[in-house]
Order: sequence, then structure tokens, then C-alpha cells
Amino acid sequence: MAKLPLSARIVGRVEESPTIFTLRLRLADERARAAYRFAPGQFNMVYLYGVGEVPISIVSDPSGPELLDHTIRAVGRVTQGLARLQPGEHIGLRGPFGRGWPLREAEGHDILVVTGGLGCAPVVAVINYILMRRERFGRLTIIQGVKHAEEMIWRERYAYWNTLPDTRVLLAADHGGALWPFHVGLVTEVFDQAPITPANTLVMMCGPEGMMHAGIQNLTARGIAEERIYLSMERSMHCAVGHCGHCQYGARFVCRDGPVFAYPRVKELFRVKGY
Ligand SMILES: Cc1cc2nc3c(=O)[nH]c(=O)nc-3n(C[C@H](O)[C@H](O)[C@H](O)COP(=O)(O)OP(=O)(O)OC[C@H]3O[C@@H](n4cnc5c(N)ncnc54)[C@H](O)[C@@H]3O)c2cc1C
Ligand code: FES
Repeated sequence: MAKLPLSARIVGRVEESPTIFTLRLRLADERARAAYRFAPGQFNMVYLYGVGEVPISIVSDPSGPELLDHTIRAVGRVTQGLARLQPGEHIGLRGPFGRGWPLREAEGHDILVVTGGLGCAPVVAVINYILMRRERFGRLTIIQGVKHAEEMIWRERYAYWNTLPDTRVLLAADHGGALWPFHVGLVTEVFDQAPITPANTLVMMCGPEGMMHAGIQNLTARGIAEERIYLSMERSMHCAVGHCGHCQYGARFVCRDGPVFAYPRVKELFRVKGY
């Protein structure tokens, strides 16, 4: 794991929406590139020289770690600066950090992936991981919700996943619009269409905390055990290695002990104001 930023070259850039873009990065140093490995759900600290560093999930395939994709929403100082970069330019990269999705616990289960907004980014790598090892998992259901239909990125990717055996994709937008063929309303409203077998389902969830809270209430009421609901949490970060306390969450650090947690591990503080 790189603790100091390594130089990474931008080798590709995709505009996903007016505010969301994907940067494909390649570590400049050959040895660092050969040694780099990551697990689905981990993140890198992406450093815009002279501006600052932000945590960003790795969305590319863990089996091809030479190219690292990061899908980013331009919201503030660093991410808006990153949005102006073009292929050929360099940024700093350290990572990977954190604990990713519970791959071993998930084996043998039906997997329900529930995401909201750009919460879809931290789950792409785990979806690809499952699809490449299909025999180890049961049914895969992917549910993604957005506020406005135009914020739904990766429509082709979702359409493709929906054609695969034992795989179902359900999309929702709070506000649909004329060309929106999917559900209009909250993401939890499409749970009824999902083939959920509570005793055998493991949930991976990422999105705004209000959405995750509503999702947890809904799924536990259907009989899914809290221990089998995993959340990817977001907090402001600096060191990413459990030293500075910026991401402190009770007795835990989101950077080191998360960002993925089994719900019972964060339940006490989840939705408590100030945490
Ligand atoms: C583990 C982890 C993984 C992440 N993965 C991604 C990803 O794949 N793609 C992506 O676009 N973003 C991701 N984020 C969020 C990203 O780190 C923040 O959007 C970024 O730090 C904002 O920095 P900024 O300097 O551009 O904005 P700032 O100038 O710091 O803030 C601008 C606005 O964004 C809000 N904001 C800042 N940081 C966060 C945060 N961590 N969570 C929610 N709101 C915030 C502020 O409240 C403010 O309203 C992740 C965060 C974590 C902790
Ligand atoms: S970012 Fe420093 S402790 Fe987590």
C-alpha cells in the first residue's frame, strides 16, 4: 500500500453526465504498478497537486489493477479541479485503503445490491467480481435510484447486466421525465419487484444515509438479518490510515475499519446528528 502519493498518468477520461466523469489512471512507476492490488469496495486518496486530496472509490476490475478507474462527481475544490484534467496529465495517488465488501461471507448467498446516486461507484467492482465467479453466488439483484432521471449514469452497463442469467436490475428515479422507462419514485418502492429470499440474502448498500436508513428498515421488516446488511460509509478524510481522527465514527475510523461495515457495527451511531 502506497502511503505517499505516487504519480499516476491519466490515460482515459469519460464524461458520464454534466457533473460526473471517470478518470482512468495508470501508475507511472513500473514496480509500483506491478505490485498494486485492490479489493472491491476499497478506495484511493486522489491528490490534485497544489489543491488537495480526496478519497475516491476504485470502480475498475480488481483482476486488471494496472488501470484504475475512478468515477467522480465535481462537488467542490478538489473534485472540480480534477474535472478540468485531461489525458496525459498527472495526479498523485495513494492507496488502496480500507476494508471492502465481505466477499467470503457473500459466497453461497443471493446478493442484493442497493445504491443511490453516486453510491453506485463503490459497488461496480464487486458486481464484476461476482459476475466473473458466478457459480459461487446465488441470484444477483442490482437496485439503483437517483433523484432525477438524467443523473442515471451507466445505463448501458445496467442494461447489459440485466440480460445475464440469474441477474436482475431495477432502476428508479424520484423524478422521471418523458423518456424514463423505469420506476418513478423512491428506490425502496422497487424492493417489491426484487426476488428476495430473506433467509439467504446478503445486502450491499451504498448511498445517502437517509436512503440507506429507509432501505435497512424495509429489508429488516422483510426478515433480512441486520448482520447480513453491509453499508459503505462516507466521511471526510485526511490521512486514510487511522491516525488523524478526521473520519472518527465512535470507536472506529471509517478509513481504516470501513468504509464497508456490517450494519450492527455502526447501528448505534447511524443517523445520530454530529456523527
Ligand atoms: C470512502 C469514500 C469513497 C468515496 N468515493 C467517491 C467516489 O467514488 N466518487 C465521488 O465522486 N466521491 C466519492 N467520495 C466523496 C468524495 O471524497 C468527496 O466528494 C470529496 O472529498 C469532495 O471534495 P471536494 O474538495 O471536491 O469538495 P469540498 O470543497 O470538500 O466540499 C464540497 C461539498 O461536498 C460536500 N462533501 C465533501 N466531502 C464529502 C464527503 N466525503 N461526503 C459527502 N459530501 C461531501 C461538502 O459538504 C460540500 O457541500 C468518497 C468518499 C469516501 C469517504
Ligand atoms: S482519515 Fe485520518 S483517521 Fe481516518
